[in-house]
Order: sequence, then structure tokens, then C-alpha cells
Amino acid sequence: MTGADSSLTLGIETSCDETSVAVLRGETEILANIVYSQVDLHARYGGVVPEVASRNHVVKLPYIVDEALACAGVQVQEISLVAATMGPGLVGPLLVGLCHAKGMAYALRAPFLGVNHLEGHLFAHRLHSPDVVPPFMGLIVSGGHTMLVDVPRYGEYYVVGTTVDDAAGEAIDKIGKMIGMGYPAGAKMDELADSGDPKAIPLPRPMGDSPSFDFSFSGLKTAVLYHVRKNPRERREDIAASVLASVVDVLTKKSLEATRRFHRHRLVVVGGVAANAHLRAQLVAEGTQRGIDVLFPPIALCTDNAAMIAAVGAFRHREFGEAHPLSVSPNPSLSF
Ligand code: KG4
Ligand code: ZN
Repeated sequence: MTGADSSLTLGIETSCDETSVAVLRGETEILANIVYSQVDLHARYGGVVPEVASRNHVVKLPYIVDEALACAGVQVQEISLVAATMGPGLVGPLLVGLCHAKGMAYALRAPFLGVNHLEGHLFAHRLHSPDVVPPFMGLIVSGGHTMLVDVPRYGEYYVVGTTVDDAAGEAIDKIGKMIGMGYPAGAKMDELADSGDPKAIPLPRPMGDSPSFDFSFSGLKTAVLYHVRKNPRERREDIAASVLASVVDVLTKKSLEATRRFHRHRLVVVGGVAANAHLRAQLVAEGTQRGIDVLFPPIALCTDNAAMIAAVGAFRHREFGEAHPLSVSPNPSLSF
């Protein structure tokens, strides 16, 4: 990967319940980005079962590698770098993707790179808008993470705030499960909230007035639980609208304040919850009022995918000459 922009990176993402393989030309041209979601497999349990996820990655991954190569129209021998998520995530699923990637790199005599999934989320922005470069404030908001990261340049990250308990998507999913919305509940809650009253239930804005940029969403779940016990006939639309109003208020307030405090003029929002229409609308409206440009990659790049992992691998290999030995292990709690 030194020099020529046409070199090909194969990326693998298996940190949770998506099996994904991508082929990238250079650092930003996506030739294939196949995502197979196991969501139906886990729905009956109301959440991801790690052992079930690992086993399904083992079964599906070889076929998805073939599908990605076919979709990109390239031969496996043309791949010059193999990158896979090494953490954070579930250790079993990570191990499956990492071992497959290492095996491919060994067979191809190509360099191998283990990628931080969180850096991957930020690179969704680079894939979509390669010309809109840092500095920016990043908000990573998904089922596993709620994190504010200052990005002066790619490769350099400062965590400004993170959740002290549940991630925003995790809280949404748990509340959804509690009121019978199925798993995962984010998209359904987004839709139901359109016809609900966001002021129907006076829910707290956890840590909303705290000077810290950390988040806490588990209290929200408890508040909804008590409210629903007392008011079993509360409309689901009103619950959805009230819950999202609380989550969106806190995310909007803290991320715009962090952007201002760190003297950035741009906020980049990534992760599954970035798909939320209410979050998008409120962040853009309030950002505009405060002279902050709020950017969201397309939803397919916000949720877990291998193109963002390949993009980090290609960048780090080219920029820093980085490659890892095949002895690298998964790190389930990897951060910045
Ligand atoms: O990034 P992602 O695909 O996987 C993780 O790394 O967690 O995010 C999944 C999360 C789930 O919690 C899901 O409920 C939430 O994103 N989500 C949404 C929406 N679509 C997905 N949350 C709110 N509104 C949505 N439209
Ligand atoms: Zn993720």
C-alpha cells in the first residue's frame, strides 16, 4: 500500500451482530461493502447472544468475503492489505473476524492491521466526505457507545466524554423491550415518536445540566419503568416521543457545547442512533443557530460496516506505515 492510490484493502467487521466485508480502492473508494445482519437471529432473545453471534459469523464470513470480492470485481490475489476490527466489541465475534483476516493476510503475504472500531465509526465521515477534513468534534452514538471525541486530525483522538452506564441506543432498546416494541427498538421508536407528544411524560434529562461531557442513560430507563407501572394505559407513541425527546435533548446540548468549548465549528455524528430523524433535525437546527456545521454520513455508513474498518486500515498503513503481527489478540474494551 505504499504510494499507489489504486491499492486494494479488504476489511472485515464482526464486533457484534453484523458480519461485514468490504473492498476499498485507495483510501476512500468503496468497491464493495456487504453487510449481513444477524438481527433476526437475536430478536427472539431480546438482545445479542454472544455465543450465537460468534457461531453465525463462523458460518457466514467465508461466503461474505467471496460475495464482497465478486461485487468489487477483483481477485483475492489483488488484495494488498487486510484489516479487521480488533475491538471494542464481543470477544468471540471479534476473534472470528480477526482470525479470518489473519489467515487471509498470511496466505496472501499481505500486511495485516487490527482496527479500533470507534476510529472506524469516525472514518464513515471520511468515506462520505473525503474533502471535509478535521478538525471536528465527533459524536459516536450507537447501541454500544455514546462518546464525544475531539479530532484535530485523523489518527489523533481525545475523548471528551463518554457514557457512565448505558449507551443511548442500549437505553432505547431496553425501554423498547420493556414496552413490547421488539429488538432493536430504535427505528420503531423513531417512527412511533412522529405521532406522539414529546411533552406527554415529564422524563429527566440525565446529566443534562452537569458541566461534564459524560452521559448517563440508565436512569431514563428506570423513570420510564416507574411511569409505565403507574400508567399502564399510556400511549406507546407518547412514550416513544417523550423518551426520544429526553435522549435527543441531552445529546444535542452536550455535543454542541463540547464543539464550542473545543473551538470547533463542525460536529460529525456517526453510529446507529445517528439514523434517528429527531436527533438529526434538532442537532442541525440548533447547530445552525450556533454557527456549527452538523454532518451525518448516510445511514448505511453510520451503522456497523466493514468499509469504515478498511478505511482506517488503508489510512493508518499509508500514513503511519502501520501493520500488526499475526499474534495480535482481540481487545473487547479497546478505547482511544
Ligand atoms: O451502530 P449500530 O448499528 O451498532 C452498534 O455498534 O451498536 O447501532 C445500533 C443501535 C441500536 O441500539 C438501534 O436501536 C439504534 O442503533 N438505532 C436507532 C435508529 N436506528 C438504529 N436509534 C434511534 N433511531 C433510529 N432510527
Ligand atoms: Zn459500532
